[in-house]
Amino acid sequence: MAIETNPTWILVSIIAFTVVSSVVSSSFDYGLALSKSLLYFESQRSGRLPYNQRVHWRGHSGLTDGLEQGVDLVGGYYDAGDHVKFGLPMAFTVTMLSWGIVEYRDEIASAGELDHALEAVKWGTDYFVKAHTHPNVLWAEVGDGGTDHYCWQRPEDMTTSRQAYKIDPENPGSDLAGETAAAMAAASMVFRESNPHYSHLLLHHAQQLFEFGDKYRGRYDRSVGVAKSYYASVSGYNDELLWAALWLYRASGREEHLRYAVDNAHSLGGIGWAISEFSWDIKFAGVQILASQLLLQNKHHKTDHQHNILKKYQSKAEHFICSTLNKSKEGQNVHRTPAGLLFVRQWNNMQYVTGATFLLTIYSDQLSKSKQRIQCPLGSVGPEEMLAFAKSQVDYILGSNPQGLSYLVGYGSRYPKRVHHRGSSIVSYKGNKGFIGCTQGYDQWYGRQRDNPNVLVGAVVGGPDLHDGFRDVRGNFMQTEACTYNTAPLVGVFAKLRMLEEVKYEEMVMPLVSSA
Ligand SMILES: *[C@@H]1O[C@H](CO)[C@@H](O)[C@H](O)[C@H]1NC(C)=O
Repeated sequence: MAIETNPTWILVSIIAFTVVSSVVSSSFDYGLALSKSLLYFESQRSGRLPYNQRVHWRGHSGLTDGLEQGVDLVGGYYDAGDHVKFGLPMAFTVTMLSWGIVEYRDEIASAGELDHALEAVKWGTDYFVKAHTHPNVLWAEVGDGGTDHYCWQRPEDMTTSRQAYKIDPENPGSDLAGETAAAMAAASMVFRESNPHYSHLLLHHAQQLFEFGDKYRGRYDRSVGVAKSYYASVSGYNDELLWAALWLYRASGREEHLRYAVDNAHSLGGIGWAISEFSWDIKFAGVQILASQLLLQNKHHKTDHQHNILKKYQSKAEHFICSTLNKSKEGQNVHRTPAGLLFVRQWNNMQYVTGATFLLTIYSDQLSKSKQRIQCPLGSVGPEEMLAFAKSQVDYILGSNPQGLSYLVGYGSRYPKRVHHRGSSIVSYKGNKGFIGCTQGYDQWYGRQRDNPNVLVGAVVGGPDLHDGFRDVRGNFMQTEACTYNTAPLVGVFAKLRMLEEVKYEEMVMPLVSSA
């Protein structure tokens, strides 16, 4: 009560309010973006939906997946706007979600989203546990792009083939086994404290999958031909083997995994390739950043040889960072749109943006913890600059762009309304249980000149073209289709940016209030 009669305090609080509201209004609500991003994974769920499913326009689907082959493959995620369960992008999605939680667990928890984030990981890892039926057998895919894309149906109505495909010693897939091992190892860290039994189980699967992938070498798209036109592993499996080894080392601390990443660094291309894109296919940059984290953390007892090899990984990691920041030599930098968005290629460019943003954010944190800067060919860069650039990419995604559009669906008032997504574009099964057939969906819903009836909240669409242009048309799948691996890297980044805003807010308000 005394406070209300104190004019000084009132004056101070008015000033504080004005200052704070201008700070808040000039930035985005990253906490809201975080909450929405996690909803997206619920839209993409295959299988029997749980009682606490929050995306209500979805129902159960794919309940007989694996039945023909006598294996339970119910569950997992649809990767994008169709209903094939593709193992490689699904595993990469889970690795990136887990990495975000490993780095930003407290930030996610402080936003009240930790349980949702853990559920998003577990929906994937529960499926991988089922799909890994024998130490040397992993079910790689359910359904196929050819028959699936012939139909435009809700997942709940699906009539397309649900044939399942596997890798085994005769039909190897080191890339798929490696990525799934990485996902399981990263997820085992996520559950270490909250669910130690499950964490052990995941680590055990990770270990077996890695051994399988390493022992029986081969590209999964040669063994599982139906994957080739959709998720061909162009970079081969070398990156995934190193990636899996480093994740296993991080998760288990077992020396043999570090030794693998060091001894094979050269032969598997880990310290040879300087690549300026990072994606579900090409993950050398991720491998190099993971390796440099080990160096910067500096708590691992390493031999001189190990230290030297990790240094080589780090120098390639820094090449990635420098190119992303336009600080490499001419011709080696990542292109940008006129408004400043990283631009790698026309089809689903946002996946490269969110992946790079994630790597920049964690590298910035790592540098600031160890009080270091990096030397790029065009000058020295500190952690603040890296983070500021990552933030600029996130802000572009959330609406700071020439279209004035949020590419995170459901965020703000302007966002893509005709996302290339079967379930989102057809009336909800909950409200209309009448069967919608394969081509009927194309006739009645795909070509309909109206907004999607169900908002695919939290999805990051393919995004704008080289000139910041965007056409919100369902048939424009290069720009309007969303993928789980576009959103996954943003979960941790949103949480980090939200925390920074909170700290900024407190730094603004507290001195003013206490000076009263
Ligand atoms: C990138 O750097 C080059 C050389 O310093 C400069 O000319 C160019 O404008 C920069 N591009 C962007 C988008 O900042």
